[in-house]
Amino acid sequence: MQWRFFGSVVLACVGAAAASAQQIALMPMPASAKRADGSLTVTPVHGLSHFTVAFARNGAPGALTADTRLLDAAHRMLVRLDRTCGGDVLRSVNGPASGRATLTIEVAREGEAVQSLDEDESYKLDVTPAGAQLTAATDVGAMHGMETLLQLASHVGGACVLPAITIDDAPRFRWRGFMLDVSRHFEPLPVIKRTLDGMAVAKLNVFHWHLSDDQGFRAESRRFPRLTSVGSGGLFYTQEQMRDIVAYARARGIRVVPEFDMPGHSTSWILAYPEIGSGEDIRALPTTFGIPVAELDPPRESTYKFLDGFIGEMSGIFPDAYFHIGGDETPGTGWMANSRIRAFMQRRGFAGPPELQAYFNQRLLPILERHGKRMIGWDEILNPALPKDIVIQSWRGEESLAAGARQGYEGILSAPYYLDAQKSSAQMFLADPLPADTKLDAGQQTLVLGGEVCMWAEQLDPETVDSRVWPRTLAVAERFWSPQSNRDLPYLYQRLRRASLELEDVGLLHISGPQQLRRNLAGTLHPEALELLASVTEPVSFSDREEEQHTDAYNSLDRLVDAVVADPPSRQAMAGDVDAVAGDVRLPAGGKDSPDTSGDVPEGFPPTRGEAIADLEERFFAWQRNAPALLQLARETPRLNDIEPLAVELGELGAVGAQALTFVDTRTAPPPGWAERADALLTRSAHNTALVRFTFLPSIEKLVLAAEARGR
Ligand code: ACM
Repeated sequence: MQWRFFGSVVLACVGAAAASAQQIALMPMPASAKRADGSLTVTPVHGLSHFTVAFARNGAPGALTADTRLLDAAHRMLVRLDRTCGGDVLRSVNGPASGRATLTIEVAREGEAVQSLDEDESYKLDVTPAGAQLTAATDVGAMHGMETLLQLASHVGGACVLPAITIDDAPRFRWRGFMLDVSRHFEPLPVIKRTLDGMAVAKLNVFHWHLSDDQGFRAESRRFPRLTSVGSGGLFYTQEQMRDIVAYARARGIRVVPEFDMPGHSTSWILAYPEIGSGEDIRALPTTFGIPVAELDPPRESTYKFLDGFIGEMSGIFPDAYFHIGGDETPGTGWMANSRIRAFMQRRGFAGPPELQAYFNQRLLPILERHGKRMIGWDEILNPALPKDIVIQSWRGEESLAAGARQGYEGILSAPYYLDAQKSSAQMFLADPLPADTKLDAGQQTLVLGGEVCMWAEQLDPETVDSRVWPRTLAVAERFWSPQSNRDLPYLYQRLRRASLELEDVGLLHISGPQQLRRNLAGTLHPEALELLASVTEPVSFSDREEEQHTDAYNSLDRLVDAVVADPPSRQAMAGDVDAVAGDVRLPAGGKDSPDTSGDVPEGFPPTRGEAIADLEERFFAWQRNAPALLQLARETPRLNDIEPLAVELGELGAVGAQALTFVDTRTAPPPGWAERADALLTRSAHNTALVRFTFLPSIEKLVLAAEARGR
């Protein structure tokens, strides 16, 4: 079963003799890692031991040479190491009373006062049986190294150990971001903090905070208090809270780039201050989603005075060099309905709204500059009228990133990393901001700064945010950090499972949150049957859901679709099993340019044919056995009424799967008509019901094809 994958990667005690074959499961994969013999014992089998950390600067040891940020990070690392190693590591960051510390951290300098794109994030980690040495140019690199060290710890031969290893690591891209929309649904402070903790594990370095949109303005302004008193519905961050988040992020090596969407997606601004809008009569915050009809008023000078005051105020809270102005989806509906604005466009010779938007952005540039900011915005701000020092965030496709680079603009890629598209980790991981076959020349390639994962919040709330974001974001974070040649999918999934558990350890609720939601949904009737269904279904994509969502039934975000996750572990496990039974088994070794991980193929992967058959039999049997319970659950639970077709089909698919497995295993030809009936069931089951879909249909189809082949 799926346990097999991570069970043997890090958790199993494999005995002292096997210490050299101990698994490493680093994520993101470092640029270079070389294993050596032996390991550093964190807890001895008997007796007391201190895991001590000493700091050195410029080669000179001394406990007091660490700055507060580094010291705090070391404390956090030791708390987590304690948990991994069983709670019995006695920890100290003051160095040992005598002799060598277990870990010496040497950092050349603290790092930039305001972290920039050019912050040196590299580090080296050297673990030998006698001790560990972490060296970095800055605190930020050292913090990345500490995350790596934590991932090395595991239990071998009755002790918690770090394998002997030399890691020399640095990120591939400088901009490795995560965007969170807190406008469509508000996310309270603890969610933001644990998201930042997850980002630190993933070595992501930019938190892009989408603070305003039509449905709510979430940042307190003292100059313009109506933005939140009228425009937030009461859900917003105070200035102290935003400062707290900036500090929390900085303590983890993460920049915070705020986004205030303008001139479109600005209904909440205009509800609060109609005088900066283009004449729309806004009476309330919208509660539905889509492309808005309201825009800020570009011809009016007072609009820029307002924005100057607002941006100045926000610049005192957000020190980052970049200020995100949004700029997406501005069709100009409000502008074209306003005769004064149309006349302005005519006088200026603007052909349409894109030219007026470019004018608006040109007016924003000196304002941003005056407050020490560089402009970043979505695709739509790309316009030759704007200077080359703006950054384009590409959301409409990979090609628009390249188009910007060819025109000399820096850019970051987001189009393939929209989490609400509900794509698999593998699909997102393989999408590369700079693919091997890029047509960009060397100079243009340097303009691609990296990418950002995006989490929009139309269908998201504080209970579901973690499971929508994690663990898939880890796969993209690895794409941004690790060498381009790292493309091995089985190996990715093995490490993802282990790193996913680590995320819960830092406080994310992406595993336990959906479990709780499912318990609430199922009650005491047949919770195990719902668990089974949830393990093999995933949410439909945003676009499919958007179509179907206009009923009250789905507005509360507490349905099965909210309690299942994209790309659940069973999908990959079943695909591996079917490959083992029906051929085409892929080994999970790294590519030739990958770090040296020889000896790191975990036990139980790939499964033997016998294991795979046993796993599949068990699954197919469970689907059939649970079908009556699922059906009863569907009929008796109002919020689950719509899963009835899934309950019926899961039982039928279990039966067909079991039959196909028997035909393949016993090399028996299926009876006449069987294949047609199986194909018809597969076709019938490939639908979106209750806003979820089955994840395993390609695996069953492969098995059915293999069975059919027996008949030829
Ligand atoms: C966007 O998805 N409208 C940036």
